[in-house]
Amino acid sequence: MLVAIDGPAGAGKSTVARAAADALGFTYLDSGAMYRAAALAGDRDPATLDIVFDDGRVLLDGEDVTDAIRTPEISDLASRRAADPAVREALVVKQRELLANGDWVAEGRDIGTVVAPGADLKVWLTADPEERARRRGEPPEDVRSRDERDATREHSPMVAAEDAVEVDTTGLSIDDVVGRIVALVRG
Ligand code: CDP
Repeated sequence: MLVAIDGPAGAGKSTVARAAADALGFTYLDSGAMYRAAALAGDRDPATLDIVFDDGRVLLDGEDVTDAIRTPEISDLASRRAADPAVREALVVKQRELLANGDWVAEGRDIGTVVAPGADLKVWLTADPEERARRRGEPPEDVRSRDERDATREHSPMVAAEDAVEVDTTGLSIDDVVGRIVALVRG
């Protein structure tokens, strides 16, 4: 079983996807962490990167980069690197390998459209832009410029899958959103 949760920065994807995975007993995949790791890796060939999730830590070629990938510089660089088709192709291969076995809640921008178009449930998580910037503690223009870059890039632009269920989290608690997703999975 695969649940795809896509949407823009600050919609609550990471928190909600992690909590939904816990509630369902599924494994959580943070695809954004892979784009961040690829950004940190600089010019190294993305196809050769060894990115491992280990008990909440992210390892890049054996090195713990969990904290290093969360800086504002890497947030900006990751969305630039994510526009590079060679980076996307390499990471999509890795994501599909992971998702091939077991039950997953996978979170990103293109899980329901590109990585796993056959996902059992697709959720498009949104919130209004001011609230998203507030949640991230970032200036609204930074969040807006990443959204803009993600939505207008030529290769795999950020867009809701046609069959995604849209959940607007503006004003909702995390528990409300997780409850809604769990209810959708359980049908
Ligand atoms: O934390 P935030 O939502 O800003 O970003 P993230 O989910 O950690 O992903 C970092 C960047 O990777 C995003 O700005 C996207 O440009 C890119 N990304 C992507 O293109 N496709 C994905 N499936 C996941 C992330």
